[in-house]
Amino acid sequence: MTDSQDNRLDRRSFLAATAVTAAATATSFIQPLTASAETTFSLLQGASSGSKGMITAKPLPEKVFTTAALGISRKTHEEHYKLYEGYVKKVNEITDKLAKMGTPDFTKANATYSDLRELKVELSFAIGGVKNHELYFNHIGGKGGAPTGEIAELIKTAFGSYDNWKADLKATGIAARGWVWLAHDYTDGSLFNYIGDSQNTYPVWHATPLLGLDVYEHAYYFDFQTGRAKYIDAFFNVIDWDAVNANLAVAKAVAGAAKV
Ligand SMILES: [Fe+2]
Repeated sequence: MTDSQDNRLDRRSFLAATAVTAAATATSFIQPLTASAETTFSLLQGASSGSKGMITAKPLPEKVFTTAALGISRKTHEEHYKLYEGYVKKVNEITDKLAKMGTPDFTKANATYSDLRELKVELSFAIGGVKNHELYFNHIGGKGGAPTGEIAELIKTAFGSYDNWKADLKATGIAARGWVWLAHDYTDGSLFNYIGDSQNTYPVWHATPLLGLDVYEHAYYFDFQTGRAKYIDAFFNVIDWDAVNANLAVAKAVAGAAKV
């Protein structure tokens, strides 16, 4: 048995620890949603650089392939999934390197260049790549169109109408370089379409993403070439609102636990 296996928490312990963390520290934009909570983690504990989880890639939901009839092809999803798997591998590679650092030589920490800086910056990029794509793959392959359930009411309250939200998300997607998230901020209950230019840019603490729109070219170039607007139009037609409502339920549970 390896050292990491010795230190591996079982899934129940991890989820319990996650719930406590969510309540006690008012978790953030990169807080795991339901899907991410099912990712297999083994926490490496005791290292002076902290404890992070080793993860495994989740399978691509079969429902995503139904988008082919609406313009987002199987080929795009298959290639896109390979990128996601790459982020998973890099999370584990960087986590392993941090763990093996043991007690880092803190005197070598440097904001221009240092091993600690590079590993921690790129870890945030890789983790973002994992969580953003798990969010995205989990809510495409639905019936699209106007939202249903509680999210429909919240969108109407926040944006005035579904059409207003749709117009804002599309324009935000055109203005973004990588990601757009519809997120619920539990400090004030607001709903907002946030921009992320990269996997790890512009996190907003206490805001939990309910829906993610990937506007990196790899998400649409094969099907639409440079026609990002057409890709976003297709995206609206494949949203699984049941999945978005499930994310909302998790976000509201976090808000309730945080009592802010
Ligand atoms: Fe992507």
